[in-house]
Amino acid sequence: MAAQIIDGKALSLIIQVYVRNKQKACEKAGFESWLHKLDANSTQADLLNLISKLNQDPKVHGILVQLPLPKHLNTDLILDAVTALKDVDGFGPENLGLLTSGRPRLLPCTPHGVLVMLQRYKIPVAGKHVVVLGRSTIVGKPMGLILLQNGIDATVTICHSKTSNLKEITRQADILVAAIGKPCFVTADMVKPGAVVIDVGINRLEDGKLVGDVDYEQVLPLCGAITPVPGGVGPMTITMLLHNTLLAAKLQQKS
Ligand SMILES: NC(=O)c1ccc[n+]([C@@H]2O[C@H](COP(=O)([O-])OP(=O)(O)OC[C@H]3O[C@@H](n4cnc5c(N)ncnc54)[C@H](OP(=O)(O)O)[C@@H]3O)[C@@H](O)[C@H]2O)c1
Repeated sequence: MAAQIIDGKALSLIIQVYVRNKQKACEKAGFESWLHKLDANSTQADLLNLISKLNQDPKVHGILVQLPLPKHLNTDLILDAVTALKDVDGFGPENLGLLTSGRPRLLPCTPHGVLVMLQRYKIPVAGKHVVVLGRSTIVGKPMGLILLQNGIDATVTICHSKTSNLKEITRQADILVAAIGKPCFVTADMVKPGAVVIDVGINRLEDGKLVGDVDYEQVLPLCGAITPVPGGVGPMTITMLLHNTLLAAKLQQKS
């Protein structure tokens, strides 16, 4: 089972949908899940106490702290408090450190989902130039590390908001992964014809419509393959969360 902890008041609509979808996926897969909705005024100690209880609870195999947390809480400290074998988001220092040192264990769900999607669609990755837009700890950075692993063997470029000549770099990509949180940022002139485009972004426009970081309509005719938003990467993230929870349960049984 998995326990989700969220800041009950600061939930955006996207996050609410995401939390609900995770609960539904658990139900469907036969996992028990408990949602701990905390008040936005909860203190660091309140949250650390809850995490400590869940760390010790043998019925709980996975703990998710839904980000972003309110500003008065130290996100790093909170994530560090989740015991490494229950860190099913894979954001904690031990799991990220293992990935960095080439011994992947519980991988961050979104970039892992992207890898599995590429593999299931038999899209060659070894030796290909993958350009990742975004360097966050939850998507961009682990995406690069996962694709760099021996046996996966991509050549990776990670770009961020200070990258110069962005368009020149993205146009070199055989596979372009967009994870920046800017609606329709990637336009047709940024994509090499035939490239595979993975859109991680989820952005809500003023009219309520959900769009990705890629201008889907513009890019679709020229790319080799593209993931839609909604759909595409989002459901893969939840799938990999269930995968991690099962793996975490097995690892805890062995330990
Ligand atoms: N599908 C899913 O399941 C899923 C999961 C997680 C996130 N997401 C979505 O993915 C998007 C990114 O999420 P995140 O958490 O990684 O976001 P984040 O923490 O805000 O990071 C955004 C990254 O994009 C970079 N960036 C911003 N503007 C840029 C620009 N103009 N050119 C190049 N790089 C730029 C930033 O660079 P700096 O580091 O220099 O600031 C940063 O590294 C969001 O839309 C989020 O909702 C989707």
